[in-house]
Amino acid sequence: MSNPVILSSQDRDIARAARLLSDGALVAFPTETVYGLGADARNGTAVARIYEAKGRPSFNPLIVHVASAAHAQRLALWSDTAELMARHFWPGPLSIVLPLAPDHGLSSLVTAGLTSVAIRVPAHATAQALLTAFDGPVAAPSANPSGRISPTTARHVLDGLGPRIDAVLDAGPCRVGLESTIVGLTGAPQFLRAGGIAREDIEAVLGRPLQDPPTGEISAPGQLTSHYAPQATVRLNATTRHEGEVLLGFGQMACDLNLSATGDLTEAAAHLFEYLHQLDATGRPIAVAPVPHIGLGAAINDRLERAAAPR
Ligand code: TXA
Ligand code: MG
Repeated sequence: MSNPVILSSQDRDIARAARLLSDGALVAFPTETVYGLGADARNGTAVARIYEAKGRPSFNPLIVHVASAAHAQRLALWSDTAELMARHFWPGPLSIVLPLAPDHGLSSLVTAGLTSVAIRVPAHATAQALLTAFDGPVAAPSANPSGRISPTTARHVLDGLGPRIDAVLDAGPCRVGLESTIVGLTGAPQFLRAGGIAREDIEAVLGRPLQDPPTGEISAPGQLTSHYAPQATVRLNATTRHEGEVLLGFGQMACDLNLSATGDLTEAAAHLFEYLHQLDATGRPIAVAPVPHIGLGAAINDRLERAAAPR
């Protein structure tokens, strides 16, 4: 395999990336959350290459990216609640799980055989341009090897997947830095994954609380415990650095890298994966300061707990 083509977000490169997708290639592209590893969601071979490139367990369904809610309605059964969510949060860092439409045309590998599909309309201009040029559904998990930290720059993508992909669109670092929030709308609205939009904000629009999925049921397999693991061991709620450790701080404190010196959770989320990457690269154990469990702090702690899980 040869090295991936590195593309910019100029029109010619977007057109080239869209052609590559049509040809069944793997194209990594930026979204406002993290970089995704994209393939034509209707092409089973191309989708299989995503699992292969990531070394991902095959039972994980993938998120399908489209340019608009109108396009989403060709893939999934729409509802008033879906319309409400789409109107408020699309384009943006929300994925919605909906029942598959009869003629969806998606590869069953995308849904891992489920009768539902996770759909997202990203807000990032480059992602929008690519999806519009391609004019089809793009399956895209985060563009990192399975079990590793999600990529927030093209450099992370190249370091993690390198020759296993065909191209990467480089449009600089991602703004949100955490994956999309996932809401299930196949029945009563469920909160499936914490992410770039706070649960409270979704509940405010819904006018009622989201339900938690039944315990023990893995409806979002990406939630498997050690999914977001760095290579180093991770110790949480650390207030001081133990011998040999590097310390990831939050708020005013002495540390090696600080998620947000001012205690800003949005800034902390944007830094999270980048700083874990940097500290992981030191080869030393990572200690992490406590992060408050409010708003985006819930998603940050969710990722940190996975990173610290025994494996
Ligand atoms: O921000 C994001 O969402 C990024 C960017 C690239 O868009 N994508 C991403 O995709 O995080 P991925 O494949 O890493 O996460 C997919 C998540 C998993 O937790 C998976 O189990 C869940 O979506 N999922 C997909 N289809 C589902 C379905 N039908 N029912 C329940 N969960 C589903
Ligand atoms: Mg991922």
